[in-house]
Amino acid sequence: MNDYITIALPKGKLFKKSVALLEKVGYSAENVVEDSRKLIISNEETKVRFIIAKTVDVPTYVEYGAADIGIIGKDVLLEQEKDVVELLDMGFGKCRLMMAVPEAKRREKLTDYAHLRAATKYPNCAKEYFNKLGIQVEIVKLNGSIELGPIVGISEMIIDIVETGRTLKENKLVEVDSVFTATARLIANRASFKLKFDRLHKLVEDLRVVLAEEGK
Ligand code: PRP
Repeated sequence: MNDYITIALPKGKLFKKSVALLEKVGYSAENVVEDSRKLIISNEETKVRFIIAKTVDVPTYVEYGAADIGIIGKDVLLEQEKDVVELLDMGFGKCRLMMAVPEAKRREKLTDYAHLRAATKYPNCAKEYFNKLGIQVEIVKLNGSIELGPIVGISEMIIDIVETGRTLKENKLVEVDSVFTATARLIANRASFKLKFDRLHKLVEDLRVVLAEEGK
């Protein structure tokens, strides 16, 4: 399998754009679709394999070398701190991690949120954020639908991703502070980056060209 490049693709918001970009630089296979029953799809001609993975698992596949490269949001990378090489900021999938509360529960200063609870899918980023603020907050880890936290009384606030802002609005939450902004990144396994350097270097350069053209 050493002559293949294996790419871990995240299901979800980054999927379509990732497939489209890779196709433009010659990395494609038939039926690379999000709901594919086949979880590994190969193209013998171009020697590319795609692994269709759950978003949070992409860095793990890459770290362990099950995939040579992967596409994943910087938010997930910051949360997981896996040992992978970040090759390229792909610019798309822009979102931000933010702190939000129900409109009625908004307080004057950030420090006024001390000793409350925050629901999040990003416990490490949340801990770091509150540590920097110098306040003690109880972190409640959820795996999705974070906005439910304050509604059902699990937490008073949330630390979550906002993209369009629609979910916040629909759940009557207001953004209080921004933790960081994130975009999609191309990552590589450390050993693959050395062993398959020429091919991966070319892929990165070709992607840079396509992204620059799109940005014009
Ligand atoms: C993310 C995030 C918010 C939503 C924000 O959830 O956790 O819920 O998207 O997007 P918006 O600002 O465009 O409304 P995702 O769709 O990944 O699902 P999840 O809540 O099940 O994690």
